[in-house]
Amino acid sequence: MRKNIVAGNWKMNKNLQEGIAFVEELQVALSNVDKINCDVVVGTPFIHLANVSAAINTGLIGVAAQNCADKESGAYTGEVSAAMVASTGAKYVILGHSERRQYYGETDAKLKEKTLLALANGLTPIFCIGEVLEEREAGKQNEVVKAQIENALFNLSAEEFSKIVLAYEPVWAIGTGKTATPEQAQEMHAYIRKTLAEKYGKEVADNTSILYGGSANAANAKELFSNPDVDGGLIGGASLKVETFLPIVQAF
Ligand code: PGA
Repeated sequence: MRKNIVAGNWKMNKNLQEGIAFVEELQVALSNVDKINCDVVVGTPFIHLANVSAAINTGLIGVAAQNCADKESGAYTGEVSAAMVASTGAKYVILGHSERRQYYGETDAKLKEKTLLALANGLTPIFCIGEVLEEREAGKQNEVVKAQIENALFNLSAEEFSKIVLAYEPVWAIGTGKTATPEQAQEMHAYIRKTLAEKYGKEVADNTSILYGGSANAANAKELFSNPDVDGGLIGGASLKVETFLPIVQAF
């Protein structure tokens, strides 16, 4: 069966010391929780990965990079490869976040390469998809999301695809305080699962974790996660403090 996952995305926040202090605090807080019913992941800037991984000694937290290069290695100044990410102890990589698509020109074609390299290096991609406001207003959200999945991921075999985690993040809900309603989230997640079933069969579709992202917080997480096709969250703003992140973990 698919896993429930609550993943934090720190974006470009926290210096190294703050990052380490956060995971140390989160670790203690998680050890005091009776039963944790989801995998917990923190998505840190590259520079934090090795130290944050080293600071986690309980196995209670997985570490994610927020990006990786679309090339294997070589003369690509400023880039960080999937192999480098894996060598830090990180197990996940967030790919295709809308901020990377919007501000750093990430295309489906680049994301296809990044995904292949992440998989080849044993990383679990948390692959983000989602429509912008104008697309939703035009009723085009399903076709936009389907095209993002098709263009970047449908070259994968069923076995490869079974290692992917998806995160549906309507761009109009990210950092805006405007969450998708539980009905909107469920409707899209069910559509995504149907799209996966058509391509890879019901078993792969049923086993794929599909997270929701976009202004998820302690107040709305329970209702969002109670939907049958919502398997957790990718959390930005509310993942920056243990007091706001832990209740989201506990929403499962
Ligand atoms: P938000 O960000 O929770 O601050 O809306 C989510 C994300 O961008 O992953």
